[in-house]
Amino acid sequence: MSSEVVRRVRTRIPGLDEILYGGIPERNIVLVSGGPGTGKSIMGMQFLYNGLVEGEPGVFVALEEHPASVRRSFKHFGWDITKFEQDGKFALIDAFTGGIGRYAEREKYVVKNPDDVREMIDVLRQAIKEVDAVRVVIDSVSTLYLTKPAVARSVIMLLKRVIAGLGCTAIFVSQVSAGERGFGGPGVEHAVDGIIRLDLDEYDGELYRSVIVWKMRATRHSMRRHPLEITDKGLRIQWDKYIKFTRGGVIIEKLPEEEVKVMKKAVQEAPETKKRVVVEEEEEE
Ligand SMILES: Nc1ncnc2c1ncn2[C@@H]1O[C@H](COP(=O)(O)OP(=O)(O)OP(=O)(O)O)[C@@H](O)[C@H]1O
Ligand SMILES: [Mg+2]
Repeated sequence: MSSEVVRRVRTRIPGLDEILYGGIPERNIVLVSGGPGTGKSIMGMQFLYNGLVEGEPGVFVALEEHPASVRRSFKHFGWDITKFEQDGKFALIDAFTGGIGRYAEREKYVVKNPDDVREMIDVLRQAIKEVDAVRVVIDSVSTLYLTKPAVARSVIMLLKRVIAGLGCTAIFVSQVSAGERGFGGPGVEHAVDGIIRLDLDEYDGELYRSVIVWKMRATRHSMRRHPLEITDKGLRIQWDKYIKFTRGGVIIEKLPEEEVKVMKKAVQEAPETKKRVVVEEEEEE
């Protein structure tokens, strides 16, 4: 398949669609991997919120943080999810509290036993159908197999089958330790369609943020490490620059003019997906 015919979900995260030559190919499951504080959750929230604003409903699965804390994070960046939730365009799935506590009683989508992946998937499937979700974020998938790494691959495959089968495009947040080179384990890394790696590196007493697309099925993508900023508006990737860590220092250089032109053009021309395209109603095995 040529890249012209691959339809994309536009992340609308500044710079990300450019380094993906148009956006995330539809129905791709993308692992957003990185150490603590690298911007994974922010990337997930921004991806979802940008979709909501464009009329693309979404689902956020909260496994890592209390739903109240997730709501506060959205708000921190000025991303008002409440109105979309009231209009039935956004669902927050509480897979954190187990329904315990006064706050949790107010949540519409609750996974009673957060250790039960099957139950989580049932709630997710229901939420996707009810809001007609185009975008899904799971924060984080690592939580699902932290204590049982042997099942990591099968959990990812199951999620992938359900989510892509229902026609959604997803970000799976994957946690790795600071300084770890991997993305979340061999089973997981090969099972997903794409890997975006977020990094925070210390150099001479200063921290530098960067992002690199390690793989993305069905598209060409930048092969460089790009500088990344986090502000109170979310993430911003300097897509037309790249960052090098050398013995002499940290060097940020401009991309060749030609590469910039091709990326810009790809973003302008890539056909966009704005609706859920169901390929197959997946069956429970
Ligand atoms: N308004 C802001 N301005 C600048 N930086 C911010 C702002 N808000 C958050 N940050 C940065 O974002 C980081 C948190 O990002 P995020 O929650 O996405 O991390 P994460 O990769 O999900 O980490 P973890 O694996 O620990 O959940 C903070 O540590 C801080 O450095
Ligand atoms: Mg996080």
